Amino acid sequence: MQYLPIFTKLDDKPVLVIGGGEVALRKSQAFLKARAKVTVIAPEFCAELEALAKQQKLTLQRAYFQPEQVLGYMLIIAATDNDTVNTQVFEAAEQHNIFVNVVDDQPKCRFIFPSIVDRDPITIAISSAGTAPVLARRLREKLETLIPQHIGALAKLVGSFRKQVKQRFTSFDDRRQFWERVFDSNVVSTVQKGNIEQASDELTTMLDDNLPPQGEVYVVGAGPGDPELLTLKALQLMQQADVVVYDYLVSDEIMELVRRDAELICVGKRAGDHSVPQERTNELLVELAQQGKKVCRIKGGDPFIYGRGGEEVQVLASHGVSYQIVPGITAAAGCSAYAGIPLTHRDHAQAIQFVTGHCKKDGQELDWPSLAKPNQTLAIYMGVIKSPHIQSQLLAHGRSATTPVAIVENGTRKDQRVITGQLAQLSELIETHAIQSPALLIIGEVASLHQQLAWFGKTTQTSSFAQPLTDVA
Ligand SMILES: C[S@@+](CC[C@H](N)C(=O)[O-])C[C@H]1O[C@@H](n2cnc3c(N)ncnc32)[C@H](O)[C@@H]1O
Repeated sequence: MQYLPIFTKLDDKPVLVIGGGEVALRKSQAFLKARAKVTVIAPEFCAELEALAKQQKLTLQRAYFQPEQVLGYMLIIAATDNDTVNTQVFEAAEQHNIFVNVVDDQPKCRFIFPSIVDRDPITIAISSAGTAPVLARRLREKLETLIPQHIGALAKLVGSFRKQVKQRFTSFDDRRQFWERVFDSNVVSTVQKGNIEQASDELTTMLDDNLPPQGEVYVVGAGPGDPELLTLKALQLMQQADVVVYDYLVSDEIMELVRRDAELICVGKRAGDHSVPQERTNELLVELAQQGKKVCRIKGGDPFIYGRGGEEVQVLASHGVSYQIVPGITAAAGCSAYAGIPLTHRDHAQAIQFVTGHCKKDGQELDWPSLAKPNQTLAIYMGVIKSPHIQSQLLAHGRSATTPVAIVENGTRKDQRVITGQLAQLSELIETHAIQSPALLIIGEVASLHQQLAWFGKTTQTSSFAQPLTDVA
């Protein structure tokens, strides 16, 4: 190990920065964050350093560096653009066994500044010992996405209970087991929901009653398929869950990201093929939560847009099961973006309607007169099978036969296909190109912008929007 990772408490301790430019400023700010007593020596200073001195946050000494100036400091940074001066600083510090860092000169660093993930009081430091700082920064970015923001608040809360827990459990093992139960309990998700007071009450109850952990259901939207469209919260809850209840719409790449040892339960749904009836899925979620499990109910797109998330949450609420709801990128947003089709556009569409082609068996007809109005975009979910009906009803209610349409199959996924044409061709296009589920229909003038803005996946264009078909409406 080239560097021993230690965290130093610099409260009011003297540190020295040599240099008056931007780098010196950044290093001084880092020291100030740790409440160190900062002195900066240079013949001249940038405006920001002057401002900090005016606010009495640090001391400036207008002078050329002299080796004896290093005496009395715990840490020293050389941040000048003059190698000779930097070397003098390094040698003077070494002579007096003072920790020194010469910026961008790793052999002259007795200490280094690691990349930091800051969830105060939790701090994670990453270092490549100066060999690959960009790689260290990349790793930090990865960790940033994985470590939830609420972890700092959680650490503060449990920190405030340490004394009480020590009094309540005298043996180390009992204390450890208690904390394990806390971190498996709803206290974590209550902090996550931002309710620190309630989390504190729950912790107090756990301390008094020593209750077993309660289950919880996370109703999570996984987006249309590209795993990089998952939200951070979705990813965190997927990795926190004991059980993951999923359906076919969730892409394989996304399922790869769930906790390795989580139990996976498929309740797959495809149009006309409900392998597990919805009522059974609802019961299953309640049963698993009542067994004390953390359940991730993961759904394609957004759980509240044609995802039956509303029904599931109603059942959870009626059984008093705790839950969280995480929105996802719905197919209309994902497919349109990846197809280069803005859903609204000042020149083409002032409104958008999300429509399902797959109503309840006893469902009402859609409001065709409203859907057939011009200057709006229709994003039709589950519309492949009913496309002949959709096409004929829109035409019958006055939407122009030349209205541009786009069919986006496997939107946002590696095998995305976009077929464009005109409304009068819709069902024919679906048949000719053997469109498979999942596919989204986008109907409206905006679909013609695909030609101009496409950037992802394969495109088949079957008619030029500039040369309309005969209007058969
Ligand atoms: C049961 S709905 C679920 C919608 C989902 N909750 C959402 O917000 O996107 C399923 C329909 O969404 C659309 N869909 C979902 N993911 C899609 C994708 N990656 N590409 C195209 N259409 C998709 C298709 O119309 C599919 O039949």
